[in-house]
This record gives sequence, structure tokens and C-alpha cells, in this order.
Amino acid sequence: MSKRWYQDNRRDAWRRIARSKGYRTRSAYKLKQIQERFAIIRSGDCVLDVGCHPGGWLQVAVEESGEEGLVVGVDLLATSPVEGAVVIIGDITDDSTIERINESLEGREINVVVSDISPNLTGRYDTDQTISLELSTLVLDAAMRFVPAGGSFVTKIFQGIGIEGLVEAAKDRFSNVQRFSPTASRSSSSETYLVCQNRLPRVRAAARGKTALEQVNEHLGRLGILVEEAEEEEETVVGFRRLNKDSD
Ligand SMILES: C[S@@+](CC[C@H](N)C(=O)[O-])C[C@H]1O[C@@H](n2cnc3c(N)ncnc32)[C@H](O)[C@@H]1O
Repeated sequence: MSKRWYQDNRRDAWRRIARSKGYRTRSAYKLKQIQERFAIIRSGDCVLDVGCHPGGWLQVAVEESGEEGLVVGVDLLATSPVEGAVVIIGDITDDSTIERINESLEGREINVVVSDISPNLTGRYDTDQTISLELSTLVLDAAMRFVPAGGSFVTKIFQGIGIEGLVEAAKDRFSNVQRFSPTASRSSSSETYLVCQNRLPRVRAAARGKTALEQVNEHLGRLGILVEEAEEEEETVVGFRRLNKDSD
């Protein structure tokens, strides 16, 4: 049997298990495995799921937070209703979406932000990884607007250039930051999850006054990768522009 056959079969196995248990996605098992290992969601918690469509993680978050919990999901795409969850259509990088999330909280405080966010993949790994790095960094910045001291944050990341900058930015904000690759992810996949626990009451000195995005930009600068804001307006979230240092 080829390695590819084995990987496809394993992926299908997770999909079959998820379907048989009523979960909308195989990814639901990734959050279940993160939960088994780190117990990030506690009964009664208020959970924000960023990039929630089509709703597999929402289903798990509703189960784990229980009857006293509150689960809010946000995605660019519409998500069919999930019992026990509030779903918002919006771009997490927009202030108006942050406002709508705040309005949906019924005065409660979010304890955990989980994110399986992924850009529209182009199939070109460097481009996809760069856009994903920016998106995950923006989700960390958004999470910092909600998660209180002691709270947790999880995001998907694609391995590659610049990731260490995001890990460092996370470590400046949380006391416990670990990478975790659930077995429900494809073994060939370069995706992994950054699990950040125990938000610090104060960001570490190195990061004071900076957003995570600014820190990641600085990190890319140190690597010799110049970073510029995209000039053109585009509908989708546009990633960092990697420019050759010698180019003008
Ligand atoms: C892999 S899917 C999430 C699957 C989900 N965890 C589940 O189990 O059903 C990633 C999602 O991120 C969403 N996304 C990408 N960019 C976003 C943004 N800027 N704001 C909100 N959602 C975004 C995509 O629309 C997509 O639905």
C-alpha cells in the first residue's frame, strides 16, 4: 500500500467517524483531541469560534460548554444553525464584526477563543502559508480584545516562514503556549494548532504597545523579508507581501 493510500484512508476514517456521530466535519475531531489534551473549554464557558463554517467546531464547543455555556461563531460564510450557538456572518478583521460579537454576548465575558481559520487556498504553498500567517495573527489580535486574564486561545497555523514570530507574540501574551497536531489532521498536512493558555494579566515588556501583527512584521523584517501593506483593495484578506530585499 502506498503512503498516499494510507493517508487518504485514515482521513476518510475520521470523516466516517465524524459523520456517524453527527458532526458536520472531520475537523470536529481536531477540536475534540485538543480538548482531550488541554481541557481548554470548561462547563459554563463562553466560547468564540472564529471561522466556524460549516459548524463542526461549534457542535463540539456547545457540548463541552454545556447548558450554562454560551457559544458564538463567526465566519465570512453563512452557517446552518447549530442548536445552542449564535452565529454571525462577518469578517473577523472588521471592527463592525467585533461590535456584533460584543452585542451577542448578553453581557457575558468570553473565556476561550478557538479558531480553525483558513484562507481560500490557492494551492501555492508559500502564498497560502503567508496569508494564513497573517490571518492567524489577526485572530490573535482580535482574541486579545475578548479573552480575559487566565483565558485561552487556540488557532490553526500552517508551518513555514514567520511562524516563530507568531509563537513569540503568543508567548508575550499567554503563560503557556504549545503546538499540537491532532491525529485527526492528515499526517501529510503542514497544519498544526497553537494552544495558548492562561492569558497574562499584562503583556510581557517586549510586546507592550505593539499588536501581534506588528511583532510578526518585525520578525519577518529581521528574517530579511520586507513586508508591505497590500496597496490594492481586495475582497479577500490579503497576506503580507514578501519582497526580495534587493528588489525595489
Ligand atoms: C477550515 S474552515 C473551518 C471549519 C470549522 N472548524 C468546522 O469544523 O466546521 C475555515 C473557515 O475560516 C473562514 N474564514 C476565513 N477568513 C475569515 C475571516 N477573515 N473572518 C471570518 N472567517 C474567515 C472561512 O470562510 C472558512 O469557513
